[in-house]
Amino acid sequence: MDTAHENQTPLYAARNVSKNYGSVVALRDVDFEVYPGEVVGLVGDNGAGKSTLIKILSGAHKQDSGELLLDGEKVSWSSPHDALVKGIETLYQDSGLCSELTVSGNVFLGREEVKSGLLGKFGVLDNKKMDKQAEAELARVGIAVPDAERTVAELSGGQRQAVAIGRAVAWASKVILLDEPTNHLGARQSEEVLSVIRQAKANGLGVVLISHTLPHVLEVSDRIVVLRLGRVVANAPTSTFTRNSLVAKLTGLGELEEIESGDMTVDEVRETLESSSDGQK
Ligand SMILES: Nc1ncnc2c1ncn2[C@@H]1O[C@H](COP(=O)(O)OP(=O)(O)OP(=O)(O)O)[C@@H](O)[C@H]1O
Ligand SMILES: [Mg+2]
Repeated sequence: MDTAHENQTPLYAARNVSKNYGSVVALRDVDFEVYPGEVVGLVGDNGAGKSTLIKILSGAHKQDSGELLLDGEKVSWSSPHDALVKGIETLYQDSGLCSELTVSGNVFLGREEVKSGLLGKFGVLDNKKMDKQAEAELARVGIAVPDAERTVAELSGGQRQAVAIGRAVAWASKVILLDEPTNHLGARQSEEVLSVIRQAKANGLGVVLISHTLPHVLEVSDRIVVLRLGRVVANAPTSTFTRNSLVAKLTGLGELEEIESGDMTVDEVRETLESSSDGQK
């Protein structure tokens, strides 16, 4: 229990959420919350259920049971658009930009501005206005892209990722859900993403950050929730974790002495896990 928020209503919460895909249990009785101005790190091994939880929070998937509460009120989404309108923005793991559209086309995807007057009535888009505004919005959240008129296909992987993050942060008014935002990014760009996250927090947004890069999570989050095999196995302030204790939680190898005493990397722990679990992965 996180005592820092004892008398506060969470900005966004999942209560008792379960989700199966056929016979696969992706989430089981998950409680999750994020408060205004808080960064929650959501960590867990591959297949732990992190993206599934994000997709339920974003309205992309529907939970089998349990409920979602926004500002303490029960909500139910029939599409991601419903959540978006309520101020919840999502960066999916497979980031979902349209490569044939320009940077600004992507920033305004689904929210296109039409020209004023008659042209607008015929659905003619005001590209100039959107280019300018897209650049301004991305700059405001601390992301510099070469040119908003360029198509996304002409950008590097890192630049695309930056546009995807910028789009989410620029539009979010309550919550931003980031599934592996520093994936494919170099050290300098990862630092930029972390500073964008800090800025979103300073603006009072609730931020959910999924990452396998534990040092990033430890650096930027206020609280960490660990999922293992679809269940929450830890939920505590970031200051109570070390990298080793976090790895121990997410692999379930808390008892192993090497982890307690040594400085194993995640990969080393995986090897230990594989060799000590008689073939069961
Ligand atoms: N659309 C789907 N259909 C069937 N099974 C799915 C689907 N999406 C996820 N799963 C399964 O649900 C479980 C949780 O998957 P999820 O994508 O939420 O994991 P994750 O924690 O995001 O993992 P990773 O770190 O690899 O991204 C896994 O066993 C996965 O195989
Ligand atoms: Mg995932």
